[in-house]
Amino acid sequence: MADERTPLIAVVQTRPARDRYPHHTLRSACTIALALTLLIGGVAVLVVLNFVPLDSSDEATLSAYLPWSDGVPKAWPRTTGIDSEDLQEILLNTPDADQAREWSQYYTSGPHLAGKNLSQAIWTKEKWMGFGVENTLIVDYDIYVNYPKGHRLALLERDDEAQSDDPSLEDAEWKVTYEASLEEDVLDEDHTSGLENRIPTFHGYSASGNVTAPYVYVNYGTYKDFEELQAANVSLAGKIALIKYGRIFRGLKVKRAQELGMVGAVMYTDPGDDGDVTEYNGNETYPTGPARQPSSVQRGSCQFLSFAPGDPTTPGYPSKPGAPRQPVDHAIPSIPSLPISYQDALPLLKTLNGHGPKASSFNKYWKGGGLGYQGVKYNIGPSPDHVVLNLVNEQEYVTTPMWNVIGIINGTIPDEVVVLGNHRDAWIAGGAGDPNSGSAAFNEVIRSFGKALEAGWKPLRTIVFASWDGEEYGLLGSTEWVEEYVPWLQASTIAYLNVDVGANGPHFRASAAPLLNKILVDTIGLVQSPNHSVPAQSVRDVWDGHISTMGSGSDFTAFQDFAGIPSLDIGFGFGSKSAVYHYHSNYDSFDWMERFGDPGFHYHATIAKVWSLVAANLIETPVIQLNATDYAIGLEKYVDSVKAKADDAGYDAQIKTSLFHPLDKAVARFLSVTQAHDALAADLFQQLLADDIPWWKWWERVALYYKIRAVNTKYKLLERQFLYAPGLDERPWFKHIVFAPGKWTGYAGATFPGIVEAIDEQNMKGVYKWVGIATGTIERAAGFLEK
Ligand SMILES: *[C@@H]1O[C@H](CO)[C@@H](O)[C@H](O)[C@H]1NC(C)=O
Ligand SMILES: *[C@@H]1O[C@H](CO)[C@@H](O)[C@H](O)[C@H]1NC(C)=O
Ligand SMILES: *[C@@H]1O[C@H](CO)[C@@H](O)[C@H](O)[C@H]1NC(C)=O
Ligand SMILES: *[C@@H]1O[C@H](CO)[C@@H](O)[C@H](O)[C@H]1NC(C)=O
Ligand SMILES: *[C@@H]1O[C@H](CO)[C@@H](O)[C@H](O)[C@H]1NC(C)=O
Ligand SMILES: *[C@@H]1O[C@H](CO)[C@@H](O)[C@H](O)[C@H]1NC(C)=O
Ligand SMILES: *[C@@H]1O[C@H](CO)[C@@H](O)[C@H](O)[C@H]1NC(C)=O
Ligand SMILES: [Zn+2]
Repeated sequence: MADERTPLIAVVQTRPARDRYPHHTLRSACTIALALTLLIGGVAVLVVLNFVPLDSSDEATLSAYLPWSDGVPKAWPRTTGIDSEDLQEILLNTPDADQAREWSQYYTSGPHLAGKNLSQAIWTKEKWMGFGVENTLIVDYDIYVNYPKGHRLALLERDDEAQSDDPSLEDAEWKVTYEASLEEDVLDEDHTSGLENRIPTFHGYSASGNVTAPYVYVNYGTYKDFEELQAANVSLAGKIALIKYGRIFRGLKVKRAQELGMVGAVMYTDPGDDGDVTEYNGNETYPTGPARQPSSVQRGSCQFLSFAPGDPTTPGYPSKPGAPRQPVDHAIPSIPSLPISYQDALPLLKTLNGHGPKASSFNKYWKGGGLGYQGVKYNIGPSPDHVVLNLVNEQEYVTTPMWNVIGIINGTIPDEVVVLGNHRDAWIAGGAGDPNSGSAAFNEVIRSFGKALEAGWKPLRTIVFASWDGEEYGLLGSTEWVEEYVPWLQASTIAYLNVDVGANGPHFRASAAPLLNKILVDTIGLVQSPNHSVPAQSVRDVWDGHISTMGSGSDFTAFQDFAGIPSLDIGFGFGSKSAVYHYHSNYDSFDWMERFGDPGFHYHATIAKVWSLVAANLIETPVIQLNATDYAIGLEKYVDSVKAKADDAGYDAQIKTSLFHPLDKAVARFLSVTQAHDALAADLFQQLLADDIPWWKWWERVALYYKIRAVNTKYKLLERQFLYAPGLDERPWFKHIVFAPGKWTGYAGATFPGIVEAIDEQNMKGVYKWVGIATGTIERAAGFLEK
């Protein structure tokens, strides 16, 4: 108890009171009077508090709310050291394009595949400490992962004579008609493309194997695409799948192929999916112009991401040395796969010309691709009997350390925390867009906060900075860290702010939990856009206004879907009309970034400003800036889309009433409760800003802080109310009933995944079960806010 009086005195003595008390003597008199009153009052409060039903954590942290007892937060609260306007100015003025360029150049100068570059972790840690975040450490996990050893892809043909003489595959004479290069071109204009130690093309978590078989073109390899093939009686078992990248997460393509008895998978990117910037639109290819370099290969993970991210041998718990390990068959493929360039795919596609149905005879998603101008007719196959593929994939599996860098700035309130994160690992030496545009911006964010610390700032809430390793293989570093610290994170974290690709184009894009919509939109209105077509526009002015729902595909997944922490993911990218054509290839390089992605690095500096301002707003504003009403509005929208799905599935009116009436009622109640909560929060904030409680009514002041504390605690824990401990059917790691990656899409966010999947699978029992769970959860969340 004695401890709790100390901060009161200390704060009253050190607080700069220049704005409130213009007359020096009055100020001193008031200060002394206030100090004495609060000191005596503090003792009285603690006596009173014994009669208030507080849990121990409330009692411990109430004192933390008292330091700004005599502060006058205007736009931002004044904690200690500097005021809010100064802080905002530092965060807006510090990030620097040339500095970001320098960090980008460092990170993209050598290979930094997950678990392979300890020196980048150490460098990052030392930089952050140099910026003033002294409490920075490396946190490592022992993770099961693969590294490439060898590969081959060849088209084999048996000549006609041998075919008639000896039809058995094993004994026939096979001739290599095409040997795929599986290599990206070394370009003079792109210095990392020719590094001695560059990383080969391969798939994360792919299975080793050596298969020789006919092959089938399976379009994007979506669940629906495979259904379409089955309906057309195309033989799949025993064949190799030739798959186009796009539409869904690559690992789920391999998963479905494997389930249907296919023996291997080969994936290429069709320039037809590159939007407006393509060779056949007349754009020059890289390095002359921005269009896809024909030899570029998209590496990537084939983990079954929508079933569980993280180390596949330790689902749900951290991969610490000595941790028990589970079998991995449910989590990663058992058939070999290889990524290839479209140049290497051309001979394979052309060989299918005239064999099997035309892709265009299937549904609208099967139109073919952009390679028609190269003589590809997009027949499905299978390849004729005398043509097979030999696919060899040699992977070494090891359990090896990976290194997260974690920096912490302690706030005044110990149990209110904001976490910022970006991954550091890349598939290649470059990674100038993914992820190191984010890493470069992150250093600018931390340098900015360091400047504020230097000016004497102490944050109101705690900030954690995380540079993750192993994201590319399956969100490894972030997932293991969340799994390790989940009790603390769930008790204390207000939000997780992710930046993966910080900038590889000029268009602001965002996905966010609805609780964070408002603060995001407000904040980007404060940041100047580098778009010079009209001067003095904010990022918000030139933004398309679209916020996507949280799916998966980056490090926010464990925070949002497993721990129930509201998260967002932001960056500057290409517009909807052009794809990121050098994604996960050697040409996502510093040289590409400087010439085409973000020349001048102004968008790097801009994303740093957006990121740190959102964080500062959450960290400093006394009433936590989450908006609960937006959550309810989101739920209304998601329920509408569930209803549309039920309509599509042909549910009759009676079933719909019995299903959706209780759900609608729960959402309506949640809406009114959230509106009341936001109104109460806004009112308390107004009272705090007005600061018109006379000094001698100290108990009213304390009551106000106590009420704000209670409102904040509810904001903090609201997202957690949407977790369902047993998790989703067949993928129990995913605990959130509103947000999960689509089971068969992986990246895209599915809302009410339990309900939607049961409808898709025509599982009526499941539909009732999940509507019941959703209804109960929303009712409970409303009750939680109300109580
Ligand atoms: C690690 O990254 C640094 C900087 O990008 C690079 O210079 C170094 O060669 C890399 N180390 C290894 C072992 O690849
Ligand atoms: C793959 O298997 C074939 C046939 O069994 C064999 O001839 C070939 O050497 C194998 N290739 C590799 C790289 O192991
Ligand atoms: C597929 O095979 C089934 C059973 O042999 C047959 O009924 C059906 O008509 C076939 N469908 C097509 C599109 O050929
Ligand atoms: C790409 O080609 C299109 C169509 O010709 C043209 O409008 C566009 O300006 C080109 N884009 C670039 C970046 O060169
Ligand atoms: C930060 O706070 C934690 C927990 O409250 C404490 O253990 C740690 O020593 C503090 N670190 C610093 C650098 O003040
Ligand atoms: C730049 O600003 C103009 C004018 O507001 C807008 O039309 C354009 O889309 C913006 N471009 C980008 C890349 O934001
Ligand atoms: C919260 O969001 C709702 C709906 O978007 C909006 O009407 C309300 O003004 C917001 N409240 C605050 C305090 O910003
Ligand atoms: Zn990334």
